[in-house]
Amino acid sequence: MSRRERQAVRGIGYGGDYNPEQWPESTWAEDIRLMAEAGVNLVTVGVFSWSRLQPAPSDLTAGWLDRALGLLADAGIGVDLATGTASPPPWLVAAHPEILPVTADGRRLALGSRQHYCPSVPAFRAAAVDLASRMARRYAGHPAVTMWHVSNEYGCHVPACYCELSAEAFRDWLRARYGELGRLNEAWGGAVWSQDYTSWDQVQPPRTTPTFPNPAQHLDFARFSSDELLACYRAEREAIAVHSPGTPVTTNFLSLFRPLDQFRWAAELDVVAVDSYPDPADAEAHLLSAMTCDLTRSVGGGRPWVLMEQAPNAVNWRPVNVPKAPGQYRALSLQAVARGGDAILSFQWRAAATGAEKFHSGMLPHAGTDSRVWREVVRLGADLGLLAPVAGCEVPAEVALLLDWESWWALEADSHPRRLRLIELLREFYRPLFEAGVTVDFAHPEGDLSGYRLVLVPALYLVSDAGADNVRRFAATGGTVLISFFSGIVDTSERIRLGGYPAPWRDLLGLRVEEFAPLPDGAVVRLDSVLEAGEADGSGRVWQDVIDLRGADPLLRYAEGHLAGQPAATSHPYGGGEAFYLGTLPDRATLRALLARACHRAGVAFRTDLPPGVEMVRRGGCLFVISHLDRPVEFELGGKSLDLLTSDIVGPAVALGPRGILVLTARD
Ligand code: GLA
Ligand code: GLA
Repeated sequence: MSRRERQAVRGIGYGGDYNPEQWPESTWAEDIRLMAEAGVNLVTVGVFSWSRLQPAPSDLTAGWLDRALGLLADAGIGVDLATGTASPPPWLVAAHPEILPVTADGRRLALGSRQHYCPSVPAFRAAAVDLASRMARRYAGHPAVTMWHVSNEYGCHVPACYCELSAEAFRDWLRARYGELGRLNEAWGGAVWSQDYTSWDQVQPPRTTPTFPNPAQHLDFARFSSDELLACYRAEREAIAVHSPGTPVTTNFLSLFRPLDQFRWAAELDVVAVDSYPDPADAEAHLLSAMTCDLTRSVGGGRPWVLMEQAPNAVNWRPVNVPKAPGQYRALSLQAVARGGDAILSFQWRAAATGAEKFHSGMLPHAGTDSRVWREVVRLGADLGLLAPVAGCEVPAEVALLLDWESWWALEADSHPRRLRLIELLREFYRPLFEAGVTVDFAHPEGDLSGYRLVLVPALYLVSDAGADNVRRFAATGGTVLISFFSGIVDTSERIRLGGYPAPWRDLLGLRVEEFAPLPDGAVVRLDSVLEAGEADGSGRVWQDVIDLRGADPLLRYAEGHLAGQPAATSHPYGGGEAFYLGTLPDRATLRALLARACHRAGVAFRTDLPPGVEMVRRGGCLFVISHLDRPVEFELGGKSLDLLTSDIVGPAVALGPRGILVLTARD
């Protein structure tokens, strides 16, 4: 960890968003007392405070914030201080109505909620930078301030704006990318549907069109929109650095969130932070939150990260807001620590009494301290205090799932052979690995893959030449790869790579996909397996590739339909490694068998002895064993170890209560 990151997080951080301005000052002393009782050592302050910090376009009226930060500093509680720019105040909108964002179909969104700004409007950028700058000048070096928090969940409600000022900024972005209009016409396939531009001012954002928009235009607009928000972040970060150099700067991502290219963004964050809100009503909430943790660690290149927000109990923004089960807040929090999190924060400290989020849970609920939630909050604080030894430690991973936002944007555009949803596919590939105790990183196709043994490539529809070469080189130097259908189909301009799919990897895979035969929703096709005995025959869903073998061996064959007898999954020796291909989405058991085989081939341990719902992750010298089950479970661990949470010696047989957790370390 760099010096800057060490300063941000001491031991494991614990706390939440604290909004003192929403409460009478008489409650603040109680807040501080209860924070101490719960072991809170880090709070985020000021995220939505713009109108209270700057009621007019002048200097700050921040006496209230001075007093709140003073109390926190006296109590030894660190502050992740927000620049407060996520919700422009009414006076700013009145002075510059052009700040309000416009949707693809030309509707201007109104004031009265939050995040009502277009990232390209100069008046917004100037006002945000001005506030960030004033905040940094006033609070640089404040004893409570350990980290700066720019804006909030960029793109959450308004991922892109289609107004005239955005159109101008988009044209500037395109000029920088293509230089001349002829190159843009070439990249966008202007010959199709009469779309050649003869002047830059004819070029528009992909507003609502009669039918499918130009896919390359759509892709460039997604790139532009992510970059445009990043420019807002960068401008505030630079304003902070003038006054408060050396204090780390962050913003909070939304887990698997399509609009922001997190690999690009994370490179500009001193500390990577994420908000994680799995639905407690989803039986696989723990699987999705584990993916969020692994993604956040991965985009930061393995750096420890901050869980900036989660709900201590229910949220208020789903149609039905199911509470977290007893122990679930703790289990998902310790999961985040296990997967590299060095701070565990919630939205929010005190459940609100007014406003749009008054039915969102808080660490201190409406019911007060005589409540289940409060007791769980206090317990978690005590547990996190015991986990200081893992702070800063790395989470080793031997398997990488390739993910590229550009490919994601392109994959989910319209006018394709079939609608595919990347998160659903990632979940299919992630699930069996999670259940087998295999820790997974997400990696960019052009990233360094040399530390991995196995690389999975699910529906990487778009791949650059460099990314395609990178995967090939990984396999050529002994790595095992598993590539799925609809990968390597187009280049970075959304142009088909011709000659049979997946053109960049035909030699690697020893096959050629001649055509696609997607399956309707709900349809299944039986598969014959040529896997080893015990690996059951299964079925395929979603997709079928028509595969022409060119050296690969079939592992699965279609057993019915007009592709009966033809290969559905294959393997091919390449370099020192092996390249697997999946032309369909197998049922869960079959996919598990295939991934077990790929892990085995790669030399990655794939456990089959973990009860479903029990998670096992190694971080530093600790093995985290987390049950996400609401019933007791028993299993064998092999050997005896010390549990950091209870100081008990446990093993080899282990009995965990509902959502029981062990953090095991060597016994001395
Ligand atoms: C319509 C249009 C064609 C083409 C086809 C595709 O018929 O006239 O230009 O788009 O649909 O099915
Ligand atoms: C988001 C926001 C918070 C809050 C929570 C509620 O994560 O960043 O301000 O609205 O949602 O779940």
